[in-house]
Amino acid sequence: MTDSSGIGEFTQISELIRHRHSERVPFDPGHHLAEGDVEAILEAARWAPTAHNMQNFEIIVVDDEARLAAIGRVRGATSEGFIRENYAQLSFSEEELIRKGTGLIATMFPPSWRSLDGEAEETPDVEHELLDASMHSCPVVMIVVYDTRKRAPASEGDFLGIMSLGCVMQNMWLTAETLGVGMQIMSVFSSQHVEDELRKILSIPNYIDIAFACRLGYPSVEPDRYLRVRREIQRFTHHNTYAVHGED
Ligand SMILES: Cc1cc2nc3c(=O)[nH]c(=O)nc-3n(C[C@H](O)[C@H](O)[C@H](O)COP(=O)(O)O)c2cc1C
Repeated sequence: MTDSSGIGEFTQISELIRHRHSERVPFDPGHHLAEGDVEAILEAARWAPTAHNMQNFEIIVVDDEARLAAIGRVRGATSEGFIRENYAQLSFSEEELIRKGTGLIATMFPPSWRSLDGEAEETPDVEHELLDASMHSCPVVMIVVYDTRKRAPASEGDFLGIMSLGCVMQNMWLTAETLGVGMQIMSVFSSQHVEDELRKILSIPNYIDIAFACRLGYPSVEPDRYLRVRREIQRFTHHNTYAVHGED
């Protein structure tokens, strides 16, 4: 649904930014993205701002059923450290989430991730589930990779390069939203074990790393209208000085 403004049904860029969201429900694997939509998402990536205009990304579009199935059979690798750090940031009620204004609600995660006391270790099935569980079902996965041998000039740890990849992500995501295409980032694809397996399946050389992967498609069930919170502007804006009045 595109009009002459180029942002589909959204009349304002601010509206589009607010509506962009993570679509975590299963997608219809038989409902393929129109070629024009894939093209539009890649075109959006193409025009992302990147440090030094280095355009430090390549995108692997995986829509072949056999290859998607092979990826789905890879075991995920959720570390105990991830579960602990994730737990520390969870909210356990909608009220708590609204009050904090950041983070995620615990019910989004498997029960074993919602408490500590060593319970996580007792449920290895959840920790090492197949990627298929993250991909649910989807007609296409896009994997954005970058060349670790290059970096923006004098950018320690390729900080500027990594920021640039975030711009690529946002351009793709906003475009998917305008096209009515659901998109979910799957960070598990960047974990070392998964990356190693994907190297074999997708012939990715050692010097190329995965920045992020996303699944795209059309929800096959009613989209989950979960609570999305953000901080009020005054909670993150500092005028002229970082210091809060009365503090050093
Ligand atoms: C770098 C990055 C990594 C993310 N990783 C995941 C992920 O692995 N799984 C997931 O469901 N969402 C992931 N997300 C989505 C965030 O959880 C989501 O953007 C945030 O909770 C705000 O929700 P919204 O996208 O609906 O506005 C990621 C987002 C970013 C920017």
